[in-house]
Amino acid sequence: MSILQGKQILLGVTGGIAAYKAALLTRELMKEGAVVKVAMTENATRFIAPLTFQTLTASAVAVDTFSAPEEWEIGHISLAEWARLMVIAPATANFIGKIAGGIADDLLTTCIMAAQAPVLVCPAMNTNMYRNRIVQDNIHRLTEYGYSVMEPDAGELACGAEGPGRLPTVEGIIEEAASILTEKDLRGHCIIVTAGPTREALDPVRFISNHSSGKMGYALALMARRRGARVILISGPTDLAAPRGLTFIPVSTAMEMKDCVMENLKEATIIIKAAAVADYRPLFSASQKIKKQDGTLSLELVRNPDIISEIAELKGNRIVVGFAMETENLVENAERKLKAKGMDLIVANDLNMAGAGFRTDTNIVKIIDSAGTITALPLMDKRDVADRILSRARELFDERRQ
Ligand code: PMT
Repeated sequence: MSILQGKQILLGVTGGIAAYKAALLTRELMKEGAVVKVAMTENATRFIAPLTFQTLTASAVAVDTFSAPEEWEIGHISLAEWARLMVIAPATANFIGKIAGGIADDLLTTCIMAAQAPVLVCPAMNTNMYRNRIVQDNIHRLTEYGYSVMEPDAGELACGAEGPGRLPTVEGIIEEAASILTEKDLRGHCIIVTAGPTREALDPVRFISNHSSGKMGYALALMARRRGARVILISGPTDLAAPRGLTFIPVSTAMEMKDCVMENLKEATIIIKAAAVADYRPLFSASQKIKKQDGTLSLELVRNPDIISEIAELKGNRIVVGFAMETENLVENAERKLKAKGMDLIVANDLNMAGAGFRTDTNIVKIIDSAGTITALPLMDKRDVADRILSRARELFDERRQ
């Protein structure tokens, strides 16, 4: 279940061209189960009509302090008390300046002044405005006061300029909102997660790989970050966007993945190897495209290092979690790998079960520890599976420290 389920969120929309994206954000927040109310500045209503938000949320939209919807007794105060989280998207330079300066001269600014809940500010403006030292100082001041301020995305802006200033993506804002509302029980941990497939080149055109999409590993990295851990995500090639707020290291081959894990191992308290690593690589990788020829073509493959076994030898007090992806004898094979590779936990998933394994947003897993205890989980969203794995790894870490 999404952490946003049932959460009361006040979405503040201010007057920038990105205001239209707030409609999409409203829809997506509601899809996550949040209860959304919208307050707009007068200028925002010139970019998008309050009726749009009113229709999406089935709730009146607040704009003017002196004619707040009847259902709110004293508009700004009741809204501020109602909200479990306030999200300002887009937040213009002017609006950021106002709240940083303590100005409360309309319904939205007074709501923020009276806020009891965390406030997430999502700036969107022209690049030069964003880089202006006054704006930067205001952002700095807001973060010092405890507001969460997202970095805008970089790219082509509506005004034609290039650079930082785009409203962060809807997914990025939702992730940040979820993160703010999540208990930080992994604070102090540094968690390495490996994700995705590796690619072993035959020549400049072809490679040996597998079907891993990276979804399981990225879900682990996101949930660990939400729960306050410092996360290092080492990822093979995937189509997924690099998540914000963590150290993201893209790699291609198993050898690169191994080097990268080893370089970062010292800092880690928990290592989770969700990546589907190629066990073999071609003995030779041709420098030019291999030409078609008559008859068969034999490839000579050599073993890749078993990364998780090497980690386990150096693990000390760290918790090492591996995955087993099987097509038969799930538990038996997983238990064998757990022992042979020196893991503390293994997460077994069966490729033959619908909704489990590669590419799906869900998984069906059995979490097995070195004492042989098996926790069988039903079909769950990969983020919920990730949460369960992280909780079990944290428990083991705490037990080992005692
Ligand atoms: O990415 P998705 O599309 O979301 O799919 C998720 C997943 C199916 C890839 C994931 O849930 C999963 O099962 N990952 C591990 C797949 C795998 O490689 O299993 P294995 O049984 O071959 O390896 C066992 C463990 O050893 C794994 O933790 C693996 O990362 C590790 N290993 C394997 C080979 C190797 N050379 N080095 C390793 O460290």
